[in-house]
Amino acid sequence: MMKGKPMKAWILGGSSGLGLELVKEAERHSIDPVTLGRNSQLQVDLSDRQSVEALCQKIEVMEAELLKDVSFFVWNAGEFEYGPFDQAEKLASMFAINADAPTRILQTFVRRKKKLRSPFHLITIASVAVWKARADMAIYAGTKAYQAQFSRSLALEFERDLPGSKVVIVHPAGMKTGLFPASINTSEFMDPREIAGIIWREALVQEKFCDWFNVLRVEGKPSVSRENVSPELAYDELPKYNTGGFGG
Ligand SMILES: NC(=O)c1ccc[n+]([C@@H]2O[C@H](COP(=O)([O-])OP(=O)(O)OC[C@H]3O[C@@H](n4cnc5c(N)ncnc54)[C@H](OP(=O)(O)O)[C@@H]3O)[C@@H](O)[C@H]2O)c1
Repeated sequence: MMKGKPMKAWILGGSSGLGLELVKEAERHSIDPVTLGRNSQLQVDLSDRQSVEALCQKIEVMEAELLKDVSFFVWNAGEFEYGPFDQAEKLASMFAINADAPTRILQTFVRRKKKLRSPFHLITIASVAVWKARADMAIYAGTKAYQAQFSRSLALEFERDLPGSKVVIVHPAGMKTGLFPASINTSEFMDPREIAGIIWREALVQEKFCDWFNVLRVEGKPSVSRENVSPELAYDELPKYNTGGFGG
């Protein structure tokens, strides 16, 4: 990258909630955010296959210099439905928004980046739902687990094929955003602005090619933990930590 040129971050789902805070926080670090989503600079409706293909086509023919400038790809967009599995209405769109469409977009993006030998940093916003089992969230949790393990595995290909690239997978506990239906009381949840600050701070000092961490509530405050993402804890709270349960 040319000296003095600002780094760019593509932020998939940068219009609200955590994504909007990641956009603002990027600017505080003098990183240029470019949003991708329905209400974004690069428009895409992740639930609409044609719209996803149109964006992939745009990336396919995008000017090389524009793509080379992209130092970060933040995979943040997500959809959530709360309720018994057999009554789920958003199965198809949760699979599309949380897994299928971002994978396709990343595939086109990575293909171009590899041809350009232009490494980048993938910031994957997963969830504690990846490892913490909760009733009425099975499809959501499954798609987030896909997102996390996909990213972790992709990091090995980056190390081999696109050296200099990095991956970080973030597992936040509950944040006060519009992700949840009104029936879920989010008043005790974390402030997404604080979480965005933590995510950029951690990503910007990352040395390992692949890293992952939780952001959990400890005595009401967000706290970073790498000590355990363990299946044995799937039905329990991490010792000392509150993972942001829904009180039910
Ligand atoms: N809130 C929490 O407690 C929590 C906890 C752990 C992890 N997370 C994860 O954090 C991420 C951000 O969620 P949030 O809580 O900030 O929720 P949010 O405010 O509802 O934001 C969701 C984002 O996803 C994008 N999106 C949703 N449907 C889309 C579609 N069809 N096409 C394109 N983009 C779409 C939205 O962009 P447009 O509207 O512009 O399309 C929006 O920017 C998600 O991956 C979520 O799983 C959240």
